Amino acid sequence: MEKMVIEGGKPLYGEIPISGAKNAALPLIAATLLAPGKHILRNVPDLRDTRTILKLLGELGAVWERDGSTLTIDCTDIVYAEVSYDLVKTMRASVLVLGPLIARFGRAKVSLPGGCAIGERPINFHISGFERFGVECRLQQGYVEAVIDGRLRGSSVYFDIPSVTGTENILMAAVLAEGKTVIKNAAREPEVGNLIDMLVGMGAEIEGKGSDSLVVTGVSALKAAEIDIIPDRIETGTYLIAVGAAGGEVLVKNCNPLHLPALLEKLRAAGLEIKTFADSIQALAPVGKKDWLKSVDIKTMPYPGYPTDLQAQFMALMALGSSICVFNETIFENRFMHVAELRRMGAKIRTDGSSAVVTGTGDEGLCGARVMATDLRASSSLVVAGLAASGRTEISRIYHLERGYENLAEKLGRVGARIWKEDE
Ligand code: EPU
Repeated sequence: MEKMVIEGGKPLYGEIPISGAKNAALPLIAATLLAPGKHILRNVPDLRDTRTILKLLGELGAVWERDGSTLTIDCTDIVYAEVSYDLVKTMRASVLVLGPLIARFGRAKVSLPGGCAIGERPINFHISGFERFGVECRLQQGYVEAVIDGRLRGSSVYFDIPSVTGTENILMAAVLAEGKTVIKNAAREPEVGNLIDMLVGMGAEIEGKGSDSLVVTGVSALKAAEIDIIPDRIETGTYLIAVGAAGGEVLVKNCNPLHLPALLEKLRAAGLEIKTFADSIQALAPVGKKDWLKSVDIKTMPYPGYPTDLQAQFMALMALGSSICVFNETIFENRFMHVAELRRMGAKIRTDGSSAVVTGTGDEGLCGARVMATDLRASSSLVVAGLAASGRTEISRIYHLERGYENLAEKLGRVGARIWKEDE
């Protein structure tokens, strides 16, 4: 096992290129199951999670090849198989193959994901959505077994909460269903839009991209597609927040500023200078004392609200301020796992249910410590804290980070951070 070591207090200067979005790559790779032929996906990040979903597709009979960030996936000879607990427990997003498998084979058997570090995370919306299409779903020995005789029948599906992977799974089932499907209160995240573009490229008929109401007119067959994965808005946001914490001037390149409306407002309100260009964002923050940093409240919301996936990182930044602010986490019930670790670095944070009150450490700042990564985004908040802290921070269990950040140490190292991996 490896740990991440950071010697804090170094400002960041230069350019950081952004990789393709993990949470877009996963559903788009799953969508290749819908049609035979060679699909070409560009800008695919090489991450632990993308490797896991490719392994899963390989077990189903797909053949794939990577050339740099371009993936060619051939799903012509897919065989029906069950998706084991071993794969789903490594990565919950494995459930994204349910929709395509049901649509293409009329049946699927996929292990039910258990709870995870950030919350219970049920998939009841996905299952009740499939049932609306006439699919019979049985839960047996930890597996979801879905079966339908003949084609899925288009229907209306309403989400109590706009679920991202729920919307994606239902979309991938609806494109091959007979007749019309209307998805109401659908998730509007850019990753859903990227999937819609891919499905339309495969011959699907979908209206309403970017809105919470999607109308799908089913077709009888789809063809292979060619598509670019959108830039990772959470990776982008993490590096912008890191500039606030470490100070300096960084141009974050190959990103989409339009995908981060809430974060950019919050960074400006906190006192960073943010300039946006067509596909890059420049962040400037004073080096040294944090007396310029203003405390701002954060409430996580579905897109276009403030993303839950950037809550932990912003909290690390706010721990460096001089006054008080409140974080309200409305998406996941247990997404404050980073708090106890940030406290070990000197942060003053109290939690009460879904709220956290952060009192800035002012002139004291944070100090380096040995801390533990608990989930992907909690880990990146420890990196943000470590960059600003005095002394050495050691983050163990960095396999969490490697699930979602491509070459994090290299990218930060190139802009002046002292950060590297070491054996535990
Ligand atoms: N929910 C249900 N039932 C369901 C589905 C969701 O109650 O059947 C609830 C969840 O428990 C949660 C809320 O609905 O309270 C929203 O969850 P959502 O389904 O949108 O989350 P997800 O699709 O499982 C994706 C991302 C997460 C990200 C969330 C929220 C992928 C592969 N994962 O998860 O990403 O936090 O949307 O934006 O797209 C990450 O990258 O670190 C990560 C956790």
